[in-house]
Amino acid sequence: MKSILLTGTAGFIGSNFVLYFLEKYPEYNLVNLDLLTYAGNLENLKECEGSPRYKFIKGDICNRELVEFIFNEYDIQGVIHFAAESHVDNSIKNPGVFIQTNVNGTYTLVDVAKNYWMEKPFVYKERFVGTNALASANDGTKVPLPRFHHISTDEVYGTLSLDPNDLFIETTPYMPNSPYSASKASSDMIIRAYHETYGLNTVITNCSNNYGPKQHDEKLIPTIIRNALKGNPIPIYGDGKNIRDWLYVLDHCKGIDIVYHTGKTGDTYNIGGRNERTNLQIVDKICTILDEIKPRHSEQSEESSYKELITFIEDRAGHDRRYAIDTTKLETELGWKADENFDSGIVKTIEWYLNKYGVKND
Ligand SMILES: NC(=O)c1ccc[n+]([C@@H]2O[C@H](COP(=O)([O-])OP(=O)(O)OC[C@H]3O[C@@H](n4cnc5c(N)ncnc54)[C@H](O)[C@@H]3O)[C@@H](O)[C@H]2O)c1
Repeated sequence: MKSILLTGTAGFIGSNFVLYFLEKYPEYNLVNLDLLTYAGNLENLKECEGSPRYKFIKGDICNRELVEFIFNEYDIQGVIHFAAESHVDNSIKNPGVFIQTNVNGTYTLVDVAKNYWMEKPFVYKERFVGTNALASANDGTKVPLPRFHHISTDEVYGTLSLDPNDLFIETTPYMPNSPYSASKASSDMIIRAYHETYGLNTVITNCSNNYGPKQHDEKLIPTIIRNALKGNPIPIYGDGKNIRDWLYVLDHCKGIDIVYHTGKTGDTYNIGGRNERTNLQIVDKICTILDEIKPRHSEQSEESSYKELITFIEDRAGHDRRYAIDTTKLETELGWKADENFDSGIVKTIEWYLNKYGVKND
């Protein structure tokens, strides 16, 4: 049975991915490495705990000795790398840990993978596939070689104009603006270099904003829901007109699955929801749904809308105005498409948080 190393799986996207992947592929052992920083929560992985094909290891992706031990102990034959510091606001306050985890951590992982799988540049060790396997890998067909899949973000491309035809494509030049996006851009470049220099079988996916169950409380959508339910001000940066493309987390997981299994070696794929919204539209939508399913009562006990709680706060430093993804390559070359639309996905998400915060649906 093949063992695949998944990193950062106690976080939002990784934890959704593990469950999906574990159920879909009975032929894989999943070895999960996560440091359990403030962003990681083992509660997110409860559904996997009983599986004999699931192993959790608490540790740091920057710890080379540990990563080497894991490769040897479990004979790792694939990596899907989610672990990262992921919150832009934190990267503005404390960029150092972003460089450490996102850049040095990614380097450590990919370097150990290269050494474990490869004899020399462009030659995988015979026991994995035979010495000339890369020729078949390079023609873009399904590859049998151990693969390193790096999970990245659309933020590496910088910001877009408001022209709806202006979209991020895979060849858009990198222009990261925050310490977070700069650290992710750097990690993408390291992965690219390991493909170009050593012939490592890599793929990168750059995804737009995810939403769904298990996201950390610090992020926009959980922040809106939590504050609304508590009757607290709902903080919205600046004028609220910053635009993001939102994708339901399970659709991201399905995209990763397709790229990991069928993506062309050395390639990059954008994943997005074709679902651009301003932050104001997001908060408005959530408040409208909450007004219906959990009506709010003001102090005078009259019914009032959650929208009254929206409060504009000082804008985030260097706040990118617009992100939007052209996902044509993934759709046409690999046949992916998003199953969830925003209207259904956001309702599922709100219901999940109502449950998490112990609030009953009216
Ligand atoms: N959330 C999004 O909307 C989004 C969009 C596009 C791309 N991404 C990327 O997807 C990946 C996962 O994002 P997320 O939102 O699930 O993040 P998250 O912050 O929810 O989870 C990150 C996980 O990584 C772990 N981690 C952090 N530092 C570590 C270290 N040094 N060693 C081992 N584990 C460590 C944390 O404990 C946590 O479990 C990241 O690489 C992120 O850049 C996220």
